[in-house]
Amino acid sequence: MAGRLQDKIAIITGATSGIGEATAKLFAAEGAKVVVTGRRQDRGEKVESAIQAVGGVCRFVQADHTDPAACSRVVERTLAEFGRVDILFNNAGIVTSGTAETVSEEAWAQTLAINVTAVWRMSRLVIPVMRAQGKGVIVNNASDWAVVGAREALPYAVSKGAVAQMTRSMALDHAHEGIRVNAVCPGDTFVERWVESGYFVGSGPVTREQALAESAATIPMKRFAHPEEIARAVLFLASDESSFITGHLLLVDGGNTAQ
Ligand SMILES: NC(=O)c1ccc[n+]([C@@H]2O[C@H](COP(=O)([O-])OP(=O)(O)OC[C@H]3O[C@@H](n4cnc5c(N)ncnc54)[C@H](OP(=O)(O)O)[C@@H]3O)[C@@H](O)[C@H]2O)c1
Repeated sequence: MAGRLQDKIAIITGATSGIGEATAKLFAAEGAKVVVTGRRQDRGEKVESAIQAVGGVCRFVQADHTDPAACSRVVERTLAEFGRVDILFNNAGIVTSGTAETVSEEAWAQTLAINVTAVWRMSRLVIPVMRAQGKGVIVNNASDWAVVGAREALPYAVSKGAVAQMTRSMALDHAHEGIRVNAVCPGDTFVERWVESGYFVGSGPVTREQALAESAATIPMKRFAHPEEIARAVLFLASDESSFITGHLLLVDGGNTAQ
């Protein structure tokens, strides 16, 4: 049976872990040929092998998306091997904390470079390809913090707000060319990086599980998302099932921004 993305060519940035990895695996299972990127060579190769082991088609292209040449290389490699780009999922991103007073110049610049500028840069590279095809889909990974304010995460919230505006504005600029541009806005999604970075690790008498439970208590559904739940929303936006949807921000946040 044909998958929902049968024979589509998809680039997924930042697919060496987390939401990007889950999306790459789901897209491949739905018949897409996926090009996955990220800086970590070992992780990228692992994702590539895991997808190929179950009969999928996947190529890992090592890339730091803050480097314009690396972005060009990703698109060139995709075109050289597959000849088209049907889907771009702009997912690579970092989380940075801090208030207006505490965030450093370096953290501010780094956050905008990957979370905002790289989204524009990758889009700019694929839009001419999609225009020539007469069809294409861009999905950006924003955040629920793209639509509500966040405490002590100023550069991150600003960057995701910019992604929301980039999504709407690019959608308007390219709707008549058959290119749809939408964003997924995940709420807190439990990814390995949380554990690796010490995020939510309790200190003193508070265990990590308690810290996690306390944080999840503020979410109406009383839990964090699984990366696969975000991937399913991205699949919907990337597939023809959303053929009349463009410029939309799809919140996948367990009701967090409804309160
Ligand atoms: N988890 C959440 O709660 C949550 C909520 C809302 C939105 N999001 C968004 O979801 C996206 C994915 O994050 P995640 O939660 O899945 O965490 P993650 O596992 O840390 O994924 C981030 C991905 O981005 C890549 N990346 C970061 N900087 C990069 C760079 N300069 N060049 C290329 N790749 C880069 C990382 O790969 P390398 O380290 O290998 O480069 C990794 O594959 C981000 O845009 C994030 O803002 C996450």
